[in-house]
Amino acid sequence: MNERDGDNKNGVELRVSMLIRKSLSFGIAAMVFALGVASYADEETEDSPFAIVSAEGPPPSPHVMGWIDSRNLESLNGSWKFLVDPMQVGTPGSLFGGWATTRAPENAYQLIEYSYTDAVDIRVPGDFNTQLDELLFYRDTVWYQRHFDADLTQSGRYHLWFGGVNFETTIYLNGHAVAHHSGGYVPFSVDVTEQLQANQNDLVIRVNNRLGADTIPTERTDWWPYGGLTRDVMLVHTPSAFIVNASIRLSDDRSTLSGNIKTSGMSLGEEVVISLPELNLRVVTAIDDSGTARFSIPADVELWSPATPRLYDVLITSKSDRIYDRIGFRTIETKGTRILLNGEPIKLRGISTHEEPIGRDGVAYSRSDMRELFSEAKQLGANFVRAAHYPYSRHAAKVADELGLLLWEEVPIYWNINWQNPETLEIARDQVSRLVERDWNRVSVVVWSVANETQFSQPRMAFLKRLIDDIRSLDSSRLISAALLGDTERELQHVAAHLAAYGLESDIPSEAEKQIFRQVLSEARENTPELHGRFNLVITDPLGDLVDLVSYNEYFGWYYAPFIANQTGVSERTLRKLMLEFMPNVTLGSVFNKPMFISEFGAGAKAGKRGEGVWTEDYQAEVYRAQIKMIVNSPQVQGMTPWILKDFRAMLRTLGGIQDFRNRKGLIDENGRRKEAFRVLQDFYASEWSVENP
Ligand code: GCU
Repeated sequence: MNERDGDNKNGVELRVSMLIRKSLSFGIAAMVFALGVASYADEETEDSPFAIVSAEGPPPSPHVMGWIDSRNLESLNGSWKFLVDPMQVGTPGSLFGGWATTRAPENAYQLIEYSYTDAVDIRVPGDFNTQLDELLFYRDTVWYQRHFDADLTQSGRYHLWFGGVNFETTIYLNGHAVAHHSGGYVPFSVDVTEQLQANQNDLVIRVNNRLGADTIPTERTDWWPYGGLTRDVMLVHTPSAFIVNASIRLSDDRSTLSGNIKTSGMSLGEEVVISLPELNLRVVTAIDDSGTARFSIPADVELWSPATPRLYDVLITSKSDRIYDRIGFRTIETKGTRILLNGEPIKLRGISTHEEPIGRDGVAYSRSDMRELFSEAKQLGANFVRAAHYPYSRHAAKVADELGLLLWEEVPIYWNINWQNPETLEIARDQVSRLVERDWNRVSVVVWSVANETQFSQPRMAFLKRLIDDIRSLDSSRLISAALLGDTERELQHVAAHLAAYGLESDIPSEAEKQIFRQVLSEARENTPELHGRFNLVITDPLGDLVDLVSYNEYFGWYYAPFIANQTGVSERTLRKLMLEFMPNVTLGSVFNKPMFISEFGAGAKAGKRGEGVWTEDYQAEVYRAQIKMIVNSPQVQGMTPWILKDFRAMLRTLGGIQDFRNRKGLIDENGRRKEAFRVLQDFYASEWSVENP
């Protein structure tokens, strides 16, 4: 073989080996590519090993199990194991097998890439964001796990009951997906009798607090998206035939108590007894073929009011079940532009809140949290609280019943909702029905609110009308409202024109600014109401036709100046000073012959910051003084809930040294330190508007 041959031979070998290497590498590459393609292609399908599968599970029981605190229950609150899962690898069906059960390797060769045994401990109830520093801003999947025993010697049914899980969750018991719920904030339960074992039940809960364009609420909110098992978790034992829930209310003429009792597993004609021992009232009724019993009985009750928060023991018994609650009775209605409590006109001296405790980070979840927060509202002289912007725990309305506070409860249909997504509507309807079924006996609740600052559109009207119809079919005894937006663009033009007219008569603006005002006026004349010194802001949002209380968020004295400054070039300082002087010349009204309510006004202040300008307590107090004058001059306005009682966490609020991811419009700071404006509002509530129901 010549050299060349040798070369040839070597060459051939070389080529062969290269071919093998190439085919091998090609093969590997092909496999990876195939997997890649497969996973890419199959990401569209469920069976790709790399696909992120969505967690499934059956819906929970369709109705709220009410009267929960009187039932035979075991609390599952306390220390749970906790895992973070930002890539959703824990979802059963995904490549890594899922984390729906507690597993440990049986030998040194078994590969399991998660462990609850070695996981961190976390407190339930409570958000996870403020329990682990690295999770403050976290918005994705986490896993909770604990074991519990059950006394299966008792016949009947076992239910897992959740006060609220934020925001989307799947419940696994002993490896079975027993429930899936989306929406957060509202209670749900599931009958787990079939899946329960006596010892070491393995309870695993997947929770995702990510929000998006189609969720309720959507991704962008001016409050913290606290995630996790934020409310109580319980194991409830009921007889096989049990009372699911019951509503009881006072008739409009205040002479009769009536209600409905919803049952499960009971037979037609089975007796149910409702008794109010303090009134020596006892009525026997029977189950109809739908499992519901109805009752109506004359009653001479002592009416509940903020001044006299009278509650009665109410007992409901059947052959096998017994539930109990403390319930008050009153009427709430509107008459023209007035609000009547127990038939008498009342002004709602209110304040808005978020569900955060005073002096502790994170979500409020206990009776004591709510008692401390609402007691501060009572100290303010309030008779009304707007529990914005979502359903609070059941403790909130119970505490309000006891303290004597009227309550506005709300679902988070907030800002930009995807009005045309049927799934989004179903989440909203579920939140509304669960909130109403949970709190329909809470005497303090007088307003159900279905929206906050949602732009007008036909899809928005259809979506909200559906929610309003749902509420009215469940509970016709309370007022329905929504915090409306005005026609901001048009309003700002009118405000700018009126400020310009007012500024020309004032020595606050410079001569150059007055020249700008003359220009603004010459352009505004044709489309601004007569500039005769008063500005009547009129709400025309068609949603006003569907609600009982026309509520409106306005920020005279805080937000409007920057917009007008940008439009006109006049300094914010001038505009703010003019605005505070001009506000008593403003009246707020609507085109509807209904009561009007100011559901938000306010200004930000860092507690302890004094002197001139925004963020000082002094400026915040000035805005409150001007707002009060404006509202008192507006005869259609029957109440207000200034924004807000306490500074609260918000990702929108990033100003270092002032906000530090907190919205600073509170009258107290996060530790309860009162600001100057607290006293301004307290003085007003103690003087005018203080006519309380006898
Ligand atoms: C809006 C909104 C609140 C928000 C407030 C503010 O009106 O309803 O959720 O926190 O204004 O700007 O502080």
